Amino acid sequence: MKNTASLIKMKTQNEKIAMLTAYDYPSAKLAEQAGVDVILVGDSLGMVVLGYDSTVKVTVDDMIHHGKAARRGAPDTFLVVDMPFASFHGSAERTLDNAVRIFQETGAEALKLEGADEVVDVVKLLTRTGIPVVAHLGLLPQSAGVLGGYKVQGKTAHAAQKLIDDARACEAAGACMLVLECIPYQLAQKVTAALTIPVIGIGAGSETDGQVLVYHDVLKYGSHHLAKFVRSYAETGDIMKQGLTQYVDEVKSGAFPAEEHRFTMKEEELQQLYG
Ligand code: KIV
Ligand code: NA
Repeated sequence: MKNTASLIKMKTQNEKIAMLTAYDYPSAKLAEQAGVDVILVGDSLGMVVLGYDSTVKVTVDDMIHHGKAARRGAPDTFLVVDMPFASFHGSAERTLDNAVRIFQETGAEALKLEGADEVVDVVKLLTRTGIPVVAHLGLLPQSAGVLGGYKVQGKTAHAAQKLIDDARACEAAGACMLVLECIPYQLAQKVTAALTIPVIGIGAGSETDGQVLVYHDVLKYGSHHLAKFVRSYAETGDIMKQGLTQYVDEVKSGAFPAEEHRFTMKEEELQQLYG
């Protein structure tokens, strides 16, 4: 299993980090078998697994429920669990209670937090507590309402400078890794070069230390909209629908179950039963 030190080593040796989300036992197991370096139990599960239209309804209990299942599927992969909407805001005591619960109950290697400014203090608090933290800057889905939707961030020189400063602040506060979402590739390149910790991009070009994508997007599993920065590697949804449709057809036609699927009672037992 990778750890915070070996992930930094991958950065220094120019070995790309492959990160993927997973939300349950089978998806995490497949991710581990595929050789994924870091599994993220993202709060994107609210959209791709629970059917919400944003991530803000996802709760601490949801993250723990899915985090535990993913952990069982991938016992040997560095596992990161998202702290969900508003669970790391308000008092330090409440934040720490939520973080410790998610960390202890899921057995994750790290927690991920969206945002900078006051969130930098949370990065420091958790790190000092002994919880490795992955920072997340750029497009912050938990703040989509405030940002006015899911838009590319850091496009102006001013916004880009703020993001670079935020990234440095997260690293200084002890973050072990940084996710950059939906920003211009030139800015992602600059941040990656400026930091010692690994920088993982999603919609941030190819110059980061690694990439992360959502499981359901990679496998085209589900009917949700795919963003410009996604590449799908399999048409899983189509194959699944085909299989399910065939099952329904065969039940209706009587083609399933066949003889090989049935159990047989011995003739003498039948005699006894019916006389
Ligand atoms: O929740 C998630 O899937 C994420 C990734 C997009 C980085 O935070
Ligand atoms: Na997330």
